Amino acid sequence: MHTIEELRDIFEAYTESHPFNREPQELYAPMAYIMGMGGKRLRPLLALMGAQLFGDAVHGALPVAMAVEVFHNFSLVHDDIMDEAPLRRGQATVHQKYGANAGILSGDAMLIYAYEFLRQVDNQAAIPRLLREFNRVAVEVCEGQQYDMNFERRQDVKIEEYLRMIELKTAALIEGSLVMGAVAAGAPEPDLKELAVFGRNIGLCFQLQDDILDTFGDPEKFGKKAGGDIVQNKKTFLILKALELARGETRTELARLMSSNPEDERQKVRRVTEILQQLKIREWAEQMKEEIQHTALAALGRVAVPDSRKAPLRDMAMRLIRREA
Ligand code: IPE
Ligand code: IPE
Ligand code: MG
Ligand code: MG
Ligand code: MG
Repeated sequence: MHTIEELRDIFEAYTESHPFNREPQELYAPMAYIMGMGGKRLRPLLALMGAQLFGDAVHGALPVAMAVEVFHNFSLVHDDIMDEAPLRRGQATVHQKYGANAGILSGDAMLIYAYEFLRQVDNQAAIPRLLREFNRVAVEVCEGQQYDMNFERRQDVKIEEYLRMIELKTAALIEGSLVMGAVAAGAPEPDLKELAVFGRNIGLCFQLQDDILDTFGDPEKFGKKAGGDIVQNKKTFLILKALELARGETRTELARLMSSNPEDERQKVRRVTEILQQLKIREWAEQMKEEIQHTALAALGRVAVPDSRKAPLRDMAMRLIRREA
C-alpha cells in the first residue's frame, strides 16, 4: 500500500511524462501553465486512493486521476474568468496572463483532453461506467456554477440552496474522483454507493473550508485574492448565516453591502468581515463542517474492505477540514 505522499509522487511523475507542449503554443501554453502551477492534487489523489481501497495496482487508475485533474484545472480557468479572479495558487490567473479568449479555448481543449485520458484507462471494460460517472459530474459542475452566479444577484438564498449549489459545483467532482478510481479497480456497486456518500460529504466540507479561507485565510498560503467572495457578492454559508443572525441596522447594512459593487472594495471587505466576526460566524461554519465530516466518516466505515486500507482516506478527510491552502 502507498502513503498519500507516495501517491502524489506517482501522480506527479505521470503528469511530467504527459506534458502539454504541442503546437500552437498559444493554445497549449496556458494548459501547461495551469497544470504546472501545482495545487493540492486532491482529486487525482482521491482517484488513486479509491483504487487502492480495492488492490495495490494503482497505476492502472492513473489515466482516471489525470482526467479528473485536467477537468478540475479546466473548471478553474473558466471559473476565474467568471469570478474575475486575478490570482490562483499565488500566481496570475490564466486569463490575466494570456487573455480571456486563450482561457476559454484552452479550457475547452482541456475538457476534451480529460476524456482522452479517461479513454486510456487500463480496465477498458470499466469505460461505460466511468463515462456515466464523469458525465454526471461534468454536468453537475456546470449546474452548480450557474447557481453560484445566480446567487450573486439574489438576497433571499436559503442555506439549503447554498448546500445544494456547493454539492453540484464542488462536491460532485470530489465524490466522482473517488468513485471513478474505485470503478477502475473493479469495486462492487454497494461499496461505490458508500464511497459516494463519503466523497460528497468531504466535498461539502472542502467547499465550506474554501469559503472560510476566502475571508479569514492567510492570502499567502491560500494563493487567492483575499475577500474575493465578498467583492463578488457570493452568497456563501458565512454570509447567509450572518443574514439569518443579524438584526436591525446591521442586517440592513450587510444586505446592502452584499448587493453592492463599490469603488472601494477594501472598505467593503473590511466592514463585511467585521460583521461576520461580531456574529461569530466562523464558529457556526466550523460546527457545520464537523457534522458533515461525521456523516462522511460513518459512510467510509461501511465500505466492506479492511480498516487498514481506509487509513489514508480517513487521514485525508481530517487534513482537508483543517487545511489552510
Ligand atoms: C479550488 O480547488 C476550487 C474549489 C472547488 C474550492 P482546490 O482548492 O482543490 O484547488 P487546487 O487544485 O488545490 O489549487
Ligand atoms: C469553485 O468555486 C468551483 C469550481 C471551480 C467549479 P470557487 O469559485 O469558490 O473556487 P475558487 O475559490 O475560485 O477556487
Ligand atoms: Mg472562483
Ligand atoms: Mg466560482
Ligand atoms: Mg472559493
